[in-house]
Order: sequence, then C-alpha cells, then structure tokens
Amino acid sequence: MPFPTTRLRRLRHTPALRALVRETEIAPSDLIAPLFVRHGHSLRIPIQSMPGVFQLSIDQAVLAAQGLFQAGISAVLLFGIPQIKDEMGSENFDPQGIVPQAIRAIKAAVPQLLVASDICLCEYNDSGHCGLLNTTEHTHFAQHYVLNDETLPILAKTAIAHAQAGADLLAPSGMIDGMVQALRDGLDSAGFAHLPILSYSVKFSSSFYGPFREAAEGAPRFGDRKTHQLDPANGNLAVREAEEDVLEGADLLMVKPALAYLDVIQRLKARFAGVPLVAYNVSGEYAMVKAAAQNGWLDEKAVVMEILLGMKRAGADLIISYHAADFARWMHEK
Ligand code: PBG
Repeated sequence: MPFPTTRLRRLRHTPALRALVRETEIAPSDLIAPLFVRHGHSLRIPIQSMPGVFQLSIDQAVLAAQGLFQAGISAVLLFGIPQIKDEMGSENFDPQGIVPQAIRAIKAAVPQLLVASDICLCEYNDSGHCGLLNTTEHTHFAQHYVLNDETLPILAKTAIAHAQAGADLLAPSGMIDGMVQALRDGLDSAGFAHLPILSYSVKFSSSFYGPFREAAEGAPRFGDRKTHQLDPANGNLAVREAEEDVLEGADLLMVKPALAYLDVIQRLKARFAGVPLVAYNVSGEYAMVKAAAQNGWLDEKAVVMEILLGMKRAGADLIISYHAADFARWMHEK
C-alpha cells in the first residue's frame, strides 16, 4: 500500500522508536585495537600521521592493554619495531624478539584479553618487503620479486614462536599464496592445533597504508607490493582469495582496507556467512578523520560512529580500528 497509507517516517518520530528499529549495533567488544611495540622503557613515541597513536615500550603497551580490556575491547593486534632488521626478519621469530616479549608481558598482565599477532616479514627485514626476495636477474619475474614458497617456512616459524609466547590468534598479512596452510601445518605439528588463524585474506594494494608504514617503520625500501597484494579493481578475485583461505583452514577472514571496500565485505559475508569476518579500518582511514577533526571540519565522534556502523552494516563481525580506545571511551561517556 503506497503513500499516504504507508508512511515510513512513522518509525522515526521519537528517539525511542528509532532505537526500537535500529538494525545494527556496535559495541567495544566488536573492536580490536592495534598496538605498536618497541624496545626500551617508558616510551610513548607519537606517530606524526596518526595523532593519538604511539609506538610503545612493553611496559606502556601493558598499561594500554589493561585500559583497553577494562573498556571492553576484545583483542589487541601486535606490530613490532625490531632492534635489528636482517634479510629473514629474524627478530620476529626470536623468543627474545620484541613481539614475543610483548605477547608474554601482555598475557601475564591481562590473561583474558586476546592477543593477536601480525605475521609478516616487512617490519622485521631489511628490504621492507613481505617475504624473501629474488634478487637474481634473467628471470621472467621482476627483479626483487617476493619469493612465495621460500617465504612460507619463515611465516610458519614466526607463528609458532608467537604461539609459544602465548598468542591467541595468528594473523598472516603478507598475501603470500599458501600462507594459511603453512601456518596451519606448522601450528598443528608444534602442538597448537587449537589456535585460530585470522587471515588477511583480502588485502588490497592500497595507498591507505601510508601512515602505518611510518608507525611500524615497515615501508618497502624500493618498489611496491603490487605483485602480492590485490589490485583495488578486483572484487571477483577478492572472493576467490577468501575462498582459497577458507579451504586452507582460515578460521576468520579479513578485508583490508575497509572504507573503499565495503562491497567486498558484503560479498564475503554473503558467501561465507559462517566464517567470522573482520574489517581493518586502516591507518589512512584513521588519519583522514583525525586531520579533518583537528581542523574542526568534521565531528570526530559522530563520523567514527558512522564509519564503524557502516562497516558492520556491510557485514563485518569485528573491526580492527585505531579508534578502538576512543570509541570505548565515547560509549562509556554517553
Ligand atoms: C603488513 C601490514 C601492513 C598493515 C598491516 N599489516 C602494511 C602493508 O601492507 O604495507 C597496514 C595497516 C594499516 O595501514 O593500518 N605487515
């Protein structure tokens, strides 16, 4: 029955009615907070392009984790800034490396907070690329091509080291073919069959990672990541990437970045309804909002609520966001 019998505004007249018909809710427990950890003590080094985000020494990361847990945030995702970068990124699988140390410290202080760790080479090796490099000439690949199969054992070794330190979730982020299977096999044979893998299944080759690369000091020294990360033009291939990860045993899927890829989030949720889906609200998305808010051009709180809601409405079950702590604070204020 059309207008005037039907009047869609009827459900919007009062705040109580609007609340009654609200389809999407977002809570602090939907959020995962990234943390950048580095060596040293009492350090909170601001990241220029991400106001409010810091590189933290472990003692400070523990304090941050305690605060996040008290605010109801579900998990933290750790990124490390190593002391020494070498070809293999060995600090990442060294039990005394920055991330294993941080995992142990956070789990000891806040055992119920889930700790996820990013499994990639780019923050830890000297090239800033996501794997070992092919440096020989006379190949049909580009010089400095990221080697695929040779990189897999390093990823598996890193995941095992992080599991041994106490990580709850392993998150391979390099878009290396077979990375989920390599992690699964490695974890299973090391006695960690119970630990889930959160795969960065659909990670686009995006310019929105710029501020992160400052934060994690992991920018590629040369070239780009187009030979492994997905072309932003490709939605069908994104579905196929996720399908492959599900077959390899991924427990959770991720789409990254989120804002320019809400269609991909929606497609993956429709296709893999039973697989928890994570959206990564990346550094560039955070930086845009912060910059506009600092200029007084946007209402930060309102815009962040709308952005996070949009990601959930599109189909994300969980969101990794640098706004996690802000969000939790705003929820408690209201
Ligand atoms: C790679 C990694 C990156 C991000 C998370 N893991 C950077 C990249 O691929 O260049 C980016 C996250 C962000 O921009 O917030 N280890």
